[in-house]
Amino acid sequence: MEFFDVIRRRRSVRRFQNKPVPRELVEKLLQAAFLSPSSFNRRPWHFIVVDEREKLLALSKAKLGASGLATAPLAIVITADESRSDVWVEDSSIAAEHIQLAAFDLGLSSFWVQIRNRMHDERRTAEDYVRELLGIPENYRVLCIIGIGYPAENKPPHGDEVFEWDKVSLNRFGKPWK
Ligand SMILES: Cc1cc2nc3c(=O)[nH]c(=O)nc-3n(C[C@H](O)[C@H](O)[C@H](O)COP(=O)(O)O)c2cc1C
Repeated sequence: MEFFDVIRRRRSVRRFQNKPVPRELVEKLLQAAFLSPSSFNRRPWHFIVVDEREKLLALSKAKLGASGLATAPLAIVITADESRSDVWVEDSSIAAEHIQLAAFDLGLSSFWVQIRNRMHDERRTAEDYVRELLGIPENYRVLCIIGIGYPAENKPPHGDEVFEWDKVSLNRFGKPWK
């Protein structure tokens, strides 16, 4: 698929077929993540592949907006060693998006579950919930979880309405590009 088709047709899918993702494809997704650029090439990330149903179910309860993980056969939890990079959020976000784009290119679908800055309940952060569940060390932060699988819903590609030309300036903020 052409790159532009991939980015135009990728949509967030939150319901998946009950069909495992082959290991070769999981490795491709991880390769896509490892091909990401990172600040000073510090590569602070660590990826946790989750394919156990019981753990996926527990992750689906991490916070509101994670429930799609209940049907996902696969999740990749994006974490990073905060002590290795002050811009671990940016580094990890790029890796997460590489995974989403590679997934779509490989015939899979995915969605992003935000964990950083989100709460599990009134008392516990979503990050602590995930940290405890997966045994993530203290110095590692949890950015997000990418839920992945074969789609059980069909979504149309993005239309031209996403091209918000009024959000583009030329040379000076507010001077229209178009
Ligand atoms: C930083 C970020 C956080 C997101 N958090 C969630 C989330 O917690 N749960 C969810 O279902 N989708 C989440 N999404 C997916 C967005 O809702 C989705 O990308 C957006 O609505 C656009 O739709 P599209 O992905 O189909 O283009 C998140 C996306 C981003 C980039």
